[in-house]
Amino acid sequence: MNILDVKNLSVKFDTPDGVVNAVNDVSFSLAEGKTLAIVGESGSGKSQSAFSILGLLPKNGHAAGSVKYMGQEILNLPEAEMNRYRANEIAMIFQDPMTSLNPYMRISKQLSEVLIHHKGLSKAEALKESIKMLDAVQIPDAASRVHMYPHEFSGGMRQRVMIAMSLLCRPKLLIADEPTTALDVTVQAEIMDLLIDLQEDFGMAIILITHDMGIVAGSCEETLVMFGGNVMEYRPTLDLFDNPQHPYTKGLLEAVPRLDQDVQTLSTVSYDFLEGGKS
Ligand SMILES: Nc1ncnc2c1ncn2[C@@H]1O[C@H](COP(=O)(O)OP(=O)(O)O)[C@@H](O)[C@H]1O
Ligand SMILES: [Mg+2]
Repeated sequence: MNILDVKNLSVKFDTPDGVVNAVNDVSFSLAEGKTLAIVGESGSGKSQSAFSILGLLPKNGHAAGSVKYMGQEILNLPEAEMNRYRANEIAMIFQDPMTSLNPYMRISKQLSEVLIHHKGLSKAEALKESIKMLDAVQIPDAASRVHMYPHEFSGGMRQRVMIAMSLLCRPKLLIADEPTTALDVTVQAEIMDLLIDLQEDFGMAIILITHDMGIVAGSCEETLVMFGGNVMEYRPTLDLFDNPQHPYTKGLLEAVPRLDQDVQTLSTVSYDFLEGGKS
């Protein structure tokens, strides 16, 4: 069974200047344990698509269409019902760990509270489980570091804490929205390796929103390319890399640095196709 079936998902925003169509008719499916990449330039609708799945759109945003989790419709569920899916079934990690972490609260408390709230664990059990999860994301000396505050961790370590927090309730689906963009390149690679290892250990499906086509090639079975709120291509990653159909996708792939060619940036890609394909 598919873990997620998204059909004709659209997101509109009410703004003082009128309605903004941020996402138009996005459809995709994800099987259990598999990884889907969503790529596309900034503002193409990647995050809002993800937010709408979990009911996390900004107040002026509205989602339409269908999102089925294990066959159950979950789009636009009332908060109380949506809360049963959040953390327990579907977890999300963000580009900036401080979106999820409270700077004024010890890590021990933040992690424990998730388990007390969602799993009904006792305080002592929750702390033990939190330490175990910090171990799993390879935070050294987890048993003592669990009592620290977020600011006492480096950026990469904070991102590990956030990954630990997202996995506490063993979700079957993890949505990672540019989880490494804010980090140094070497740390980015470490965090991605960690995510892929954890995916094997925990057996979860992942939607990975990223700019990094290298990571996509290495870890995602399928890729969905977005541009201006629309799906440009949605295909097995190997096919896409072998034979990109769309000018935008071609540009995206040409921007991946290779040893045998100079780096080309996206700014050199022609967008003529948007005006009716004259190019
Ligand atoms: N709160 C908002 N109000 C109005 N429009 C918004 C809001 N948030 C996002 N948008 C619109 O949605 C588009 C897609 O945003 P987003 O999904 O965050 O892009 P990205 O692909 O970079 O993640 C933006 O270009 C913007 O026009
Ligand atoms: Mg985004």
